Amino acid sequence: MIRIKSREEIALLRENAELLQAILFRLTEEARAGVATLELDRKAERWIAEIGGRPTFKGYRGYPASICTSINAEVVHGIPSARRILESGDVLSIDIGMMRKGFCADLATTVLIEGANSYRRKIMQRAAEALQIGVEQTRAGKRVGDVSSAIQKYINSYGLSVVTNFVGHGIGREMHEEPQVPNYGTAGQGPILKEGMVLCVEPMVADGQSDLLEVEVLEDDWTALAPGATVAAHYEAMVLIAASPIVLGTGLFEPQAALLAR
Ligand code: MF3
Ligand code: CO
Repeated sequence: MIRIKSREEIALLRENAELLQAILFRLTEEARAGVATLELDRKAERWIAEIGGRPTFKGYRGYPASICTSINAEVVHGIPSARRILESGDVLSIDIGMMRKGFCADLATTVLIEGANSYRRKIMQRAAEALQIGVEQTRAGKRVGDVSSAIQKYINSYGLSVVTNFVGHGIGREMHEEPQVPNYGTAGQGPILKEGMVLCVEPMVADGQSDLLEVEVLEDDWTALAPGATVAAHYEAMVLIAASPIVLGTGLFEPQAALLAR
């Protein structure tokens, strides 16, 4: 069952999404060469607590941290560590979740640590654009497959891979609600989107040889690595379904989008 949110629930989801978006943005400003990913995790945890929230990821199926920090060919679910020091040229994805006033928020972004690596930047740009293209489809009357297929077509048209074994999702009182929103699929298929649904759209993209890519989970039981890839990118937005998409919160920030497009 895909839950339709009431006006009050939407207001809370929006408030949470906006607050979490601000925290994620501050984290991107802290992500510099020489910084350990654990330092980012500590800050995230503190900032979430300061606004009366709780990090949803912590303890979720035993996950040990408040954010996920995935570097280069790691796609998602990298565990922050004191030993993992960001280096110039790294591509860092930050995924963050919060529970506050009974409702969840979940956002992700990808940043380039200094350097002007145009190849890496291009892949980030395609992933960012795939988010926008997916969000454009996330509206009343469309089907989940319209979102999935738009993302897949766009990414595959650049010879890049979409990840198959992690997907977007509904969000509300739970971090993961129905429906699943894969980054691959067939237009016109899947559940119909209706006003009041809230979805996390989150393209996960890597360079690689195949259109569809199944990521490998490392021995730490979490870190999802794209085999054969050198770099991956992940952006996530929370979208309220209406006649046109209403973005409650996004990990794609304006200055970043402008930088990528250069
Ligand atoms: N943000 C991820 C998602 O949207 C969940 C992270 S898994 C966790 O599915 F363990 F880190 F929580
Ligand atoms: Co998510």
